[in-house]
Amino acid sequence: MTPIPLSDLYYGPEEEAAVVRVLRSRWLSMGPEVEAFESEMASMLGVEYALAVSSGTAALHLALLALDIGQGAEVIQPALNFVAAANATIAVGATPVFADIIGLDEPTIDPAAVKRLITARTRAVVVMHYGGYPGRLAELTELCSRRGVALIEDACHAIGARYLDPQKRSPHGAYAGAVGDVGCFSFFSNKNLAIGEGGLIATSRHGLAERIRLLRSHGMTTLTWDRHRGHATAYDVVMHGYNYRLDEVHAALARCQLQRLCGNNAQRAALVEAYRRGLVRLDGWTIPFAGHPGESAYHLNVIVAPDAETRIRAAAHLKEAGVQTSRHYPCIPDFTVFSGSITDRLEYSRAYAARTLTLPLFPTMSPAQIAEICRELFAVSGHAMSA
Ligand SMILES: Cc1ncc(COP(=O)(O)O)c(C=O)c1O
Repeated sequence: MTPIPLSDLYYGPEEEAAVVRVLRSRWLSMGPEVEAFESEMASMLGVEYALAVSSGTAALHLALLALDIGQGAEVIQPALNFVAAANATIAVGATPVFADIIGLDEPTIDPAAVKRLITARTRAVVVMHYGGYPGRLAELTELCSRRGVALIEDACHAIGARYLDPQKRSPHGAYAGAVGDVGCFSFFSNKNLAIGEGGLIATSRHGLAERIRLLRSHGMTTLTWDRHRGHATAYDVVMHGYNYRLDEVHAALARCQLQRLCGNNAQRAALVEAYRRGLVRLDGWTIPFAGHPGESAYHLNVIVAPDAETRIRAAAHLKEAGVQTSRHYPCIPDFTVFSGSITDRLEYSRAYAARTLTLPLFPTMSPAQIAEICRELFAVSGHAMSA
């Protein structure tokens, strides 16, 4: 079998033309492409402000800084997550507090766990929309606003996903990343909108947006681009900031990929549906998010083995067959540097981490490749694939 990667990119002539256009403009650092991308993202998400940054990690770091979260503060977040939010929490001097997920079939942060862990020191809750499926935003928003705590959406998996509030029954719902105080996105190479490295922060809070704008560019009151255009001649430095800017080449690529996002996410949805149909009779395995309300971004396709040993066997078998798989994610408090962290009981997060298997998913995948992967999974489970 031709090897099947975990994810793959598609760039067409539009992306090539966009990169050439920027190179020919001879303006490479933050400028008109970034401005245009920010405005396109703000309008898609329905937020007041969209601020492009150099990565999803930079977005999370700036979100925490802008919310003035630092020494003495606790930030409740899922134990089952990529390590960026936890590292960003440490970077601002705050303490991560790790909550459990709802269950093996819904691996997003459990609002009941958040309720258990909240203290007078809690300043923010991070919800990560795992695999592109929005977390329980209505319960978390209600809890956070009642306790005066900020809600940060780690929407790095979830660009284009929509959250449906079960109480409200609106036909489309709000975009993931546009519900909490701030939403953070990543445009890393394996993401639904992939440009290599890049990120974005969405917010409708003016004060936060202004702080983020300053913090991402050294705390300086004007950009080189403003001075280049003659819109400013001088600048002041009003806070200690960073260089977390996105550049023009990446922004131009991002604008092309944004045009493809809706079609690509629909393609991902169809592929996930094909996986679900193909694997429904795989004994003992769980396919998370069955019947999830709203619209996922279908970033990951994950299945959960009956036990850790079966997961190891299946991953090895698929590797042998040329199929790349992964684990999203190990439990963060089980990493050396996070051992001794404050945690919930993490019963589900640990079971999930031991048993979860991420299968290939990318918009240009073929139904034949999915059928092949399903066949291999049935073979390793000791029974033939049933129609
Ligand atoms: C859930 C999640 N959060 C944060 C990040 C960090 O994003 P970046 O790699 O752009 O810094 C990632 C990226 O892999 C992620 O998957």
